[in-house]
Amino acid sequence: MDIEREYKRSLERILTGLDLSGMSKREQAVFIDRLNEQFPRLFALLVEIYGQRYDFFYYLQQLVQTLANGFTKRSNVLKQKDNARLAAPHWYQDENMLGMACYVDLFAGDLKGLQQRIPYLVETGITYLHLMPLYDSPKGDSDGGYAVSDYRKVNDTLGTNKDLEELSKALAEAGISLVLDFVFNHTSDEHPWALAAKAGDQKYQEFYYMFDDKHVPDEYEKHLREIFPQVRRGNFSWDSDSNKWVWTTFNNFQWDLNYTNPAVFNAITDEMLYLANLGCEALRLDALAFIWKEMGTNCENQAKAHSLIQAFNSCLQIAAPAVVFKSEAIVHPDEVLKYIDKQECQLSYNPLLMALIWNTLATRDTHLLTESMQKSFEISPDCAWVNYVRCHDDIGWTFDDAVAGQQGVNGYDHRRFLNQFYTGRFEGSFATGVAFGENPSNGDCRVCGSLASLAGLEQGIEQNNATLIEHAVARILMVHSIILSIGGIPLIYSGDELALLNDYSYEQDDSKKHDERWVQRIPVTDADIQASKKKGTPQNRVATGLQTLIGLRKQYSVFGQASTRIINPHQNALFAYQRTAKDGTALLAICNFSEHKQKVSSVTLGLGNGDVWQDLLSPVRVSPAPQELELAPYQVMWLLNSQPV
Ligand code: GLC
Ligand code: GLC
Repeated sequence: MDIEREYKRSLERILTGLDLSGMSKREQAVFIDRLNEQFPRLFALLVEIYGQRYDFFYYLQQLVQTLANGFTKRSNVLKQKDNARLAAPHWYQDENMLGMACYVDLFAGDLKGLQQRIPYLVETGITYLHLMPLYDSPKGDSDGGYAVSDYRKVNDTLGTNKDLEELSKALAEAGISLVLDFVFNHTSDEHPWALAAKAGDQKYQEFYYMFDDKHVPDEYEKHLREIFPQVRRGNFSWDSDSNKWVWTTFNNFQWDLNYTNPAVFNAITDEMLYLANLGCEALRLDALAFIWKEMGTNCENQAKAHSLIQAFNSCLQIAAPAVVFKSEAIVHPDEVLKYIDKQECQLSYNPLLMALIWNTLATRDTHLLTESMQKSFEISPDCAWVNYVRCHDDIGWTFDDAVAGQQGVNGYDHRRFLNQFYTGRFEGSFATGVAFGENPSNGDCRVCGSLASLAGLEQGIEQNNATLIEHAVARILMVHSIILSIGGIPLIYSGDELALLNDYSYEQDDSKKHDERWVQRIPVTDADIQASKKKGTPQNRVATGLQTLIGLRKQYSVFGQASTRIINPHQNALFAYQRTAKDGTALLAICNFSEHKQKVSSVTLGLGNGDVWQDLLSPVRVSPAPQELELAPYQVMWLLNSQPV
């Protein structure tokens, strides 16, 4: 078909029937402008996904009305934000950006409590706050809120919708961008759609993947991974209300939505705009790799998953363009990159950097990190990484086996080693972690634990060993220095800035004990914050050390918009990269990943270019003449070639 002619015809027809009565004339003009701009792309994407259906146009028309309604309900303040962001879209690349992710209840009890903690966030320098899912969800196990029963209702253990509205405003006033989860791969089995499906309503059964018998599921199953094999085998669960098998990639109470049905796309778009209109500035696309299923494949990272996300992106550009997407693709590095684009996800977690930081702490060998970053760090200049060291989930060893293979490292064996190293089964390891998701069939597992415990602080304190403690503190600071300087938004996992240790109390809780990820989901009490102020304690050294690094990041624009070049230091334990800003300011970062001193020549690092380089973290100065640099155990240098701007 002639797609250009068709989109124009469709748009004309849609505009004739479109109800814009809730908008002022000026707003109508803005909406129509954006619609005109986005429609060719949106139309092409939806034709690709749904064009074969006889009722395609019906759903297209309904979608545009949904966008118009969402735009109508958007507050004036947020519409102003839309304009501001459209004028300066790269806000997330600023050196001032600093992220934190937290659970509302663990961090502050409830939403009101969180509002009272805003001064703490401001003091820490936070400008981006990801609140873990705070929506209504089943009592007991709800996968930490990732089983959503109602996107429009705050979980009553955390407060009310009004509390969230107030918090959203208060955060905006404090200069903190609110980030919410968009859990769009699945709903809980208590969501009204799921309840209707259970009751036999066919319209809603078509919202999910439901099967009368195991025949088709078994065909799919041949190619699927198991995400939580410790609690349930396979990817389908029997629902005894409807007498059907339901696709459940994660837990049996998380029902995968069926995006082959355009009604689902439209309904979820409506929920997405509701979240956008709460005032969040980024939506975290939870489990986005799984949203499209294709028989005979592993049903991850399918081409149509990308088309769907681009279509959602286009919808936001029309109705709420201040909001960007953050990709949560914890998959092969080559697949992670495919989600990152201005027209798909502007932001993305960087799981490869995260996993390789832990890998390198274990091996004290930076080759895999250096080569992998040389291959995969560069992304579109319109986008940004969200760099993190720990999060609420497990650590999966997502490096590229081909890159490892080139270095003579066998991926399978190496993952086994890393799992052992971080779960107390490797003699001499500094880490205290817990195995997660052990697959009884193949022995596969992932790793859980708080940053501080995995970095050795738990062991150091237990053994009352000053050297172990000192190394642990230095490791914690070094890994944070990387996420703060390598390029992108650094995302601190709440509690890590206070060096909180593993919390084993989940073992006593029936709704949590089967899910070891709770070991790193730790309450942050006032006492913890106070304790970090007590001079000389490891917690205090972490907190104050971090404050120094954060302060420097915010002071120099080279930490913001700049390009990154990963340098090969030809030295097993050293990791180095250079950031260069448009004005020529450069920052060379070097980290020593071992507990032994390391030496490197300034020539190897490329420092002999006539500039003088000043370490921002020590008195070291490097002049143009060749010179040997010495790094203490786990020392970081941030060498800057020019004056602050
Ligand atoms: C994401 C979340 C994880 C959750 C899963 C299912 O990966 O980070 O915590 O279990 O999605 O929603
Ligand atoms: C798997 C998934 C990821 C999810 C995690 C939860 O790694 O790929 O999306 O966050 O499991 O543990």
